[in-house]
Amino acid sequence: MKIVRATAEATPNIAIIKYWGKRDEKLILPQESSISVTLNQLKTRTTAAFSEKFKEDEIWINNKKLTTPDELEKALPQLNVIREIAKIDMKAKIISYSIAPVAGGLAGSAAGLCALAAAATKALNMKIDSRQLSILCRRGSGSACRSVYGGFVEWLKGERQDGSDSYAVQIADENYWPEFRIVIGIAQSKEKKVKSRAGMKQTVATSILYPSRLNYLPKILEETKKAILGKNLENLCEIAMHESNNMHSVMLDTWPPIMYLNDVSKEVIYAIHEFNQNGIKAGYSFDAGPNPTIFTTEKYEKQIEKILKDCGIENTLISYVGSGPKIIEHEKEQLIDENGEIKKHYLKNDKIIVER
Ligand code: PMV
Repeated sequence: MKIVRATAEATPNIAIIKYWGKRDEKLILPQESSISVTLNQLKTRTTAAFSEKFKEDEIWINNKKLTTPDELEKALPQLNVIREIAKIDMKAKIISYSIAPVAGGLAGSAAGLCALAAAATKALNMKIDSRQLSILCRRGSGSACRSVYGGFVEWLKGERQDGSDSYAVQIADENYWPEFRIVIGIAQSKEKKVKSRAGMKQTVATSILYPSRLNYLPKILEETKKAILGKNLENLCEIAMHESNNMHSVMLDTWPPIMYLNDVSKEVIYAIHEFNQNGIKAGYSFDAGPNPTIFTTEKYEKQIEKILKDCGIENTLISYVGSGPKIIEHEKEQLIDENGEIKKHYLKNDKIIVER
């Protein structure tokens, strides 16, 4: 029986203006627009295969089969939407391998769900453009919709109830600001206590400060775009730090409170402010986890790495601004063979090794 398959790679994006709160839980429509930068590191590779011979859907991440509804809550609905649009009911085998720590607040799900959508739509030979791909990514994980472009990206919140105007657009491509760097500290790669989906829902429902956040975001979105297009590091970093602090304030203001930052995160915040004493040269940002991402330029990247190490973070990496998802054609790199069997694959020296 015939098997169709394709492989794609995508990288995470880190939000400068964060998405934290939905206006529609099922369609994954945000309360506000957000802005991110796509990384050139921490990629996820995904092979998607469909066949009449598959008896059930199988989704694997990092050699672990997802079984619980909790584990499947992002990928499965996305896969179902793709099948609905493609008008097929074949079962799927999805094999995903990620270099980013899964659910450690390092946006691994954005890369994963973007790679899944890109691989599955290619396998099914669907003729879709980047806007439609962005919408399909969004149905898996909101932030994934921004990973369909490289460079600096805005996710337009949209107004329509059906979500057809809620997708990502590119602000500037990956070559626009070549000196820009994202220094990532991996302080912890453990699964987080409160998943972003549950956390943001609780914030919208209970935070007293949340309406004031919604009030300030539209103004700051325009300033962020201006800072990116003007390559204004100082303004961009100041906005990013305020914004990260604002999001973590509404998290703390949620009932029961949500706290993703730990003591090391707080030390990083103080250290970066000290580094910026005579002018802003770097800006921290934290997602739903304690790992810092620091925006800066090439000139300061080594100093930032040292600051993170001094704060006790041994594991750091420097990312450039990356490009959008890629289809991987080479047979050797596919994670599923022509018979639909999973190929043995693992990580060696930061590279995904696939065995025959
Ligand atoms: O797309 P999700 O459900 O993984 O939520 C992402 C939320 C943040 O990372 C905290 C912010 C963002 O815009 O990426």
